[in-house]
Amino acid sequence: MRVLLTTIPGLEDIVVKEIEEKIESLRNINYKKLSGRIYISIGKDDKSLLQKLHELRCIERVILILGEGESSKENIDIYLDSELVSKFLGPRMTFMVRSLRIGEHTFTSTDIAAILGKNIQEAIYEKWRFYPEVSLSDPDIIFYIEIVEDVHRWGIDLTGLNALHRRKYRVYVHPSSLNPIIAYCMCRIARINEKKRILDPMCGSGTILIEGKYLNPHVKAWGLDINPQHIAGARLNAEEAGVEIKFETADIADIDELFPPSFFDAIITNPPFGIREKSIYTLSRLYSLLVEKSKKLLRKEGILCVLTPRKKLLLNILAKHNFFIEKTFTLRHGGITSFIITAVKSS
Ligand SMILES: C[S@@+](CC[C@H](N)C(=O)[O-])C[C@H]1O[C@@H](n2cnc3c(N)ncnc32)[C@H](O)[C@@H]1O
Repeated sequence: MRVLLTTIPGLEDIVVKEIEEKIESLRNINYKKLSGRIYISIGKDDKSLLQKLHELRCIERVILILGEGESSKENIDIYLDSELVSKFLGPRMTFMVRSLRIGEHTFTSTDIAAILGKNIQEAIYEKWRFYPEVSLSDPDIIFYIEIVEDVHRWGIDLTGLNALHRRKYRVYVHPSSLNPIIAYCMCRIARINEKKRILDPMCGSGTILIEGKYLNPHVKAWGLDINPQHIAGARLNAEEAGVEIKFETADIADIDELFPPSFFDAIITNPPFGIREKSIYTLSRLYSLLVEKSKKLLRKEGILCVLTPRKKLLLNILAKHNFFIEKTFTLRHGGITSFIITAVKSS
């Protein structure tokens, strides 16, 4: 059986590492960078593996691929076996179709969804002699189709209506809250599993630290934010997640007064981008403060891991403070390109 895992474009390498660590039996993992899709092969009827895939924290969806074929730029031609479709869509069940299109075609992703939907109805009619109903609000089953360049794949979206980034602990929603999948991947990139003390100095609703605690329950975590409302919300989220994190209201300009020098092994954060989220400082002042204070609070070889679209600005400031750039990941998310930059305090 072939399975498609979806994630944030740019995080494919991290997903593969998480799979390799948690599920040894997987074979034939392949993906294209920045595609947000990873294809794997699993043994037939390996249902416990499908459950295990849902426990991965770096992925959005698990899709069971039922058919693949070639496609042209102009035509959508999808063959459906009615026996196969009827194994999943029984009498009186409702369905919906999700679709995705990558590449140049003369049709849209809505056209693709409509054609698969019509073919499903015809396949079921052939088998049961009635047309199944479409439900967009509460379908019993979600079919998925993608056309990537000249290949189409269709199957069943096993994850359902809510993607896996919808973590249950989010009782307080920050206006610029970070996708928990990105937060978790940042914690992996910053190697939180080997760390003792971590800090997010602009923690908002606490997403990075909560995900960090899931990755390493033994790590001690501190979260600061200038806005007391976000700190109150972060406390609620951490309580709901069942993790212990110390939160405090603080301006980043003052945070070196709160901890001894060289206290932290890693500082992980997503500062305001200056697009939706503004600060009392200019962006370059805020990013300078982040790097200056991190230099004071990180131990030697400590890691600063930052998500930002302002790559050039941050790299210039890091260079001025003698940080060594370990790795940069490029992400495509929410209509913008952003970067996870990992820097090491070298002196
Ligand atoms: C992009 S948000 C972080 C969102 C967070 N990762 C989450 O998932 O909820 C940036 C945060 O930086 C905080 N911030 C802005 N200026 C700050 C400053 N001078 N000191 C500390 N925090 C600041 C904002 O209040 C905001 O919550």
